Amino acid sequence: MTVIKTTDKDRLDFESGINELKEYFASLGARKGRALTYNVLTYGCQLNESDSEKLSGMLMSMGLVQSKGGELDDADVIVFNTCSIRENADRHLFGNLGAFKTLKKKDRDVIIAVCGCMMKVPENVARIKKSYPYVDLVFDPQQLHRFPVLLRDAIRDKKQLVNITADDYIAEDSFFPIDRKRKFRALVPIMYGCNNFCSYCIVPYARGRERSRDFDEIVRELGDLAKKGYKEVMLLGQNVNSYRGGDGKSFADILRAASDFESFSRVRFMSSHPKDLSDEVIDIMASRPNVEKHLHLAMQSGSDKVLKDMNRPYTIGRFLEIADNFRKKVDGGSLTTDIIVGFPGETEEDFADTLKAVEKARFDAAFTFQYSARPGTKAAAFPDQIPQDIVTERFGRLTEITNRLAEESNSRLVGRTMEVLIEGISKAGDRTFSGRTITNHLVNFTIPEELGIDPGPDMLEGRLCEVRIDRARPYSVDGELVRLKGD
Ligand code: SAH
Ligand code: SF4
Ligand code: F3S
Repeated sequence: MTVIKTTDKDRLDFESGINELKEYFASLGARKGRALTYNVLTYGCQLNESDSEKLSGMLMSMGLVQSKGGELDDADVIVFNTCSIRENADRHLFGNLGAFKTLKKKDRDVIIAVCGCMMKVPENVARIKKSYPYVDLVFDPQQLHRFPVLLRDAIRDKKQLVNITADDYIAEDSFFPIDRKRKFRALVPIMYGCNNFCSYCIVPYARGRERSRDFDEIVRELGDLAKKGYKEVMLLGQNVNSYRGGDGKSFADILRAASDFESFSRVRFMSSHPKDLSDEVIDIMASRPNVEKHLHLAMQSGSDKVLKDMNRPYTIGRFLEIADNFRKKVDGGSLTTDIIVGFPGETEEDFADTLKAVEKARFDAAFTFQYSARPGTKAAAFPDQIPQDIVTERFGRLTEITNRLAEESNSRLVGRTMEVLIEGISKAGDRTFSGRTITNHLVNFTIPEELGIDPGPDMLEGRLCEVRIDRARPYSVDGELVRLKGD
C-alpha cells in the first residue's frame, strides 16, 4: 500500500490554475455585473461528499460563491460529482445532463464539468463525448487536485476537455481548501481506493488501489478540527480497517488518536469489511466514550455459496460470530449492514439463508439493494442473472424483515432519556429538531415551551442535549428535549 504524496510541481500548478481562474471569473463577473456562482451536485457515498467539499473549496478560492437558488442549473459553474455503484445512479446523471443543453445555448459562459466514479467507466465517457458535446470538462476522481488546471484549460481552449487517466494518484487532503458542509461534522478520509474486488462492485475500478494517508497528517487535521470546534468526525474509507500508515500504524491507532481529542463528542467511521475488523477496534468502541457505539458491517448475503461468488472472504458463520462479539462487548450498540438481493445464481435457498442470517444478526438497520450488473465487473458476466420479477419479490420479503427489525431497535429506546448530538432543524416552523444518539439512531424532538429555549434554526446545530424518547417509528424515534448540555 502506498502512502499518498504530492510534489512541489503539483502545488505550483494548482496555485497558478486557481489564480488564473480567479482573474478570469473576476472579469467575467464584472462584465455580467454580479457575483458568479457555482453548484456542485453530489451523488453516491460520503467519499464523494468529501470530494465535493474539496471541489467546493477550490471553486470558492476562484472567487465563486455557492448558488442559493436551489435549482440545478442556477449557477455559472456546475459540477456533477457522479457515482456508479448501481445503474440508477448512472441514469440520474444522463437525465440531468440532457436538461442542460438549452441552458448552454442561452448562456455560453456557463461551465459544466462532470467527474466522479462514473467517469472511470469508458462507456459513460464515450456517451458524453457523443451525445453531450456541450459538457466542458470530464475528469476522474484521481484528478481532483488537477481540477483548477483542467478547468482553466477547458475554458481557454473553448472545447470539451476529457482527462481520464490510469493514475492511482491521490493528493493528500491538506493540499485542498475544504469547504466543510456541516458546521458540526467533519468528514475525514483516511484512505482511498479498494483492493477487495468484490465481484459485483465498481469501486476498485473507479477508485483504484488502496492508499492510506500519512498518520501524522491525519492527526494534524484532527487537531485542527478540534481547535475549530467540530463536535463529530467521520473517518472515511471503503474499508477503514485495512488502513496502513507508516511505522505499522493501523486503524485502531487512528481511532484512538481521534478519540483522544476530548472535544469530539462523536468519533464515527465507515465502512468496515468483516474480514479485516479487529477485536482491538471493537474493544476501543466499547471502552472509549466518544467513539460511536455503532458498527456498519456489510453482510451482503447469508449464503456461503453466494458470498464465495461475491468474493467476500468470510462465511456467514464467521460474520455472525463477529456480530455476536460486537453485541457482547459494546453494550447497547447498534449494528447496521448492507445486503444485496438477486446476485447472479442466488437460489431461493440462498435467499432463505439471507433471511435467516438477518434475523440472527438482529440488524438495527439495513441498506438493502437490488443487484445491479456493473459493466466491467466479474459478476456482470456471470451466468444465471436473476430475472427482475424474482429480484423484486425477494427484495420485498427482505425489506419487510429489515423494517420490522429497525422498528424493534427503535422501540427499545422508548422511555429512555438519551444523549443526542443535534444536527439541525427537522421541520421548519414547528420547533422540531433532529439529531443522533451515539448508537446512530435518528431522533426527532420538540422543545417544550416551558424550557424557555427559543433557538434560531442554526443555533443548536452541534450541541449535545438530552432527549426523552417517547415514540418509535420505522426509521427514527420521536422525543422531547429534557435539557441542553454545556449551558
Ligand atoms: N466498501 C463498502 C461498500 C461500499 S458500496 C463495504 O464493503 O462495506 C455500498 C454498498 O453498495 C455495498 O455494500 C453493496 O451492498 C452495494 N453495492 C455495491 N455494488 C453493488 C451492485 N453492483 N449492485 C447492488 N448493490 C451494490
Ligand atoms: Fe466494493 Fe467490496 Fe471494496 Fe466495498 S470492499 S468497495 S463492496 S469491492
Ligand atoms: Fe459511488 Fe464511487 Fe462512492 S461508485 S458509492 S461514489 S466510491
